[in-house]
Parts: sequence; structure tokens; C-alpha cells
Amino acid sequence: MTRIAQVTDLHLLEDRHDSRSGMELWRLRYLTFGRSPCARRRRERALDALVRARMTDADHVIVTGDLTEDGVSAQFEALAEVLSESKLSPERVTLVPGNHDLYDDGRAFARALEGPLRAYARTSRPGAMTELRDVLIVPISTAVPLPVTRSSGLIEQGAVERLGRLAEDPHFAWKVVLSAQHHPPGKHAIAAWHWIDGLQAPEAMDALLARCERLHVAHGHAHRSENRSIRAGASPRVFGAEAVVDGETTVRLYRATHGRLVPETDVALAA
Ligand SMILES: [Fe+2]
Ligand SMILES: [Fe+2]
Repeated sequence: MTRIAQVTDLHLLEDRHDSRSGMELWRLRYLTFGRSPCARRRRERALDALVRARMTDADHVIVTGDLTEDGVSAQFEALAEVLSESKLSPERVTLVPGNHDLYDDGRAFARALEGPLRAYARTSRPGAMTELRDVLIVPISTAVPLPVTRSSGLIEQGAVERLGRLAEDPHFAWKVVLSAQHHPPGKHAIAAWHWIDGLQAPEAMDALLARCERLHVAHGHAHRSENRSIRAGASPRVFGAEAVVDGETTVRLYRATHGRLVPETDVALAA
């Protein structure tokens, strides 16, 4: 058996964001509307979640996007510091970007993997994978550069094709193939809302999930827990977790065995 911990949607802020001006200030005000913009509080929640994830003895921790509030360099530096303070070894952590991580700059996450997050590049860069006893973890980016008024995602066709080859590779038979990604697969019921917030061109990923029984998805973005079946009566294979930034539970635990990923417990934030 292999255990996976999921932590998602940290939305980290830099300490001195109140010294921002102009467009950067307005962008942050727009993105943090309705949520506390306290950088220290967000950092404490993220550290608490990551430490708890380490203490669960999970074999691997996936952090499924919206790592930062708007992706400025100082926020990625804050993330690197929090990860280091958590004492999780980098080879046990996979990071994927979310829509928030590219609001400042479409290359921000890639640049962070070459800079403050370079220790995590081996498990987190596009094309990476981490093979464990019962799970193959594949980081899939759904983040694309967008104006702050949109929060949708897109998976590059090449990434879906590679995921399909891995999910159907007999070398990984009996393993769960786990796509760690930010946006959930599928479509919002309201087309306009899907254009604003949903995973664009979802058909290829949906077809892959329908075809490959060992393929599972752990996603963020929705800020709520989810267990979704691909077809009626089947075991759930699409899982979402509450957001660290505003959730009541901040770590979701799964166990993988015999080609199935099963949620175990949700770990609450410290009182
Ligand atoms: Fe988020
Ligand atoms: Fe998001």
C-alpha cells in the first residue's frame, strides 16, 4: 500500500504586499476580495498543512496549485521557505501550478522551478513523474496565462497523450496512475461559467478517464472536497480537496492499492 497526502490552494502572499501600487495593488485587491489578505496567517496555515502532511507518514505529498495569490517572485520565495520549514524532503513533494500562479507572468512557475523551487523540479517540472510502489504520480499543468477576470485552465494535448501512454503502459500495470492537477476534469453545468472558470477542451481528458480504469485525478481549484465517479455505480476516481487558504480541513489522505485510490481521512487545521 502507498499513501498520498494532498494539500491544495495555499494562495500565499508576500509579507510586504501592502507596499504595492498601481495595477499590482488593484490585481491583489481583486483576487483577495472576501478573504483575509494577511500574509502571516496564510503562511501559518500552509506550514501547518505541510507539517501535518509530513506527520501522516504519507509516502508522497502533492500540492495541487494556486500555490500563490498572483505569482509574483516574492510569493514563490515564501513558498520555498514554507516548504523548507515543513521539513518535507523535496523528493517526497510534487508541485503543480494553478491559474493564480500565472496571473503576474505566464513563465512564473517555470522560473520558480529554476530558482527558489529548484529542489522540487525533478518531481514537478512538465514531463516529470514519481514512481512509488502502488502509484505513478504525474504532475499535469492546467495553468495558462489569463487576465485576472478569468480562472479557467487548459491541458496541452501532448501532456494528455503522454498521460494516456503511461496509464496504458503494461510496465505500470497494477499501479494507480495519478494525475496531480489544479483544475477538475469535466464541465460546469453553465457554459458561460465553464468558459470563465472551467477546464477548456475537456473532451480528451474525459475520454482518457473513461478508457483507463487505473487513471485517477486529484485536483484543487474548487476549494471543496469531492469524490466523483466517471460513470454511475463505479468507484470514484476524481478527487478534490478543501483549500488550505480557507478550508476547515487542509490535508486529504488517500491510500493506493491494486490500481485503486481510496480517500482515507481529511486532517483538520490546528485549533
Ligand atoms: Fe484556489
Ligand atoms: Fe484555481
